[in-house]
Parts: sequence; structure tokens; C-alpha cells
Amino acid sequence: MKRLIYLSKARPSLRDDALYDMLAAARDHNRDASITGLLIHQEQLCLQVIEGDEAAVRDCYARIRRDWRHENCQVIFHDDVPGRMFTGWPLAYRAGRDLERGQVRQLADIVECATRLAAKPTDSDRWAMDVYLRALIDSFSALTVQ
Ligand SMILES: Cc1cc2nc3c(=O)[nH]c(=O)nc-3n(C[C@H](O)[C@H](O)[C@H](O)COP(=O)(O)O)c2cc1C
Repeated sequence: MKRLIYLSKARPSLRDDALYDMLAAARDHNRDASITGLLIHQEQLCLQVIEGDEAAVRDCYARIRRDWRHENCQVIFHDDVPGRMFTGWPLAYRAGRDLERGQVRQLADIVECATRLAAKPTDSDRWAMDVYLRALIDSFSALTVQ
């Protein structure tokens, strides 16, 4: 089981209507491919968690990163994991306005750390990123997401 997490910058065209259409199509595809995960869309920022078999995750991300509705995709986690965090959710969605204050802070930490990693990867930032991502993902474990 693989988990891939990336950050990207949404283009302005990714507004609510377009987003909900995209989510519906993405959920159909993810269900067929046994992919589960989460998409957070906060202003211009997207953070997506994709979990599933290695090939399914690779194919899904390859399609997503070519999508013109966002840019600057940066993988911030890609590794084997013992199990899914988003069982039953082909693509859970959380809008930025619905994030809890702690989650907004975790997201800001992740973005800052990603910027440092892109400029100059260090072990301490890699470790920090794992800690931030774990905290963010754990905060969704109750899964009241839509
Ligand atoms: C932020 C973002 C997240 C996306 N997530 C998924 C996803 O999880 N699964 C999926 O099938 N498509 C997702 N898409 C849509 C894909 O990029 C792509 O448009 C869609 O899979 C259709 O691809 P195709 O035209 O090559 O068949 C996402 C697009 C964006 C902009």
C-alpha cells in the first residue's frame, strides 16, 4: 500500500462549480481504481493524499499533475504505509474555510517546510515534514469530511 501526498497551486478556474464537477468525476475514477484519499483546497493551495496500490497511485498522480487547473505540483510524501487512513473515502474533500484552526496552522507549517525542502533538502526538514503530515492526517481521523 502506497501513500502519496502532494501540494499544488490551484489556478483561479478551480472555483466551487468546477471543483464539485471535478470531485464527482475523480471519485468515480478513484472508486474504480480502489484509491482513497483527501483533497484540501484552501484559497490557492491544494493538498491531496492519494492511497492505494503502487501502480494505481502512480497512474492517478500522473494524470493529476498534468491537469491545467493547478500547477507547481510538489510531492511531499511518497512511501509504503501499513494501511489506509481514508478507508471508505474515494476522495474526501475539505474546503479551507471549514478547516479547524489547528489544521490551518499545520497546513502553514507544511507549506513552509515544503518551500525549504524544495530549496535545500535536509534530514531535519524531512523529519519535520513527516511530523507535520502525521499531525494533519491524524486530525482527520474522525472523518467528518464530506
Ligand atoms: C486538485 C486536483 C485533484 C484531482 N484529483 C483527482 C483524483 O483524485 N482522481 C482522479 O481521477 N482525478 C483527479 N483530478 C482530475 C484529473 O486531473 C483528471 O482531470 C481526470 O482524472 C481526467 O483525466 P483524463 O482526462 O486523462 O481521463 C484532480 C484534479 C485536480 C485539479
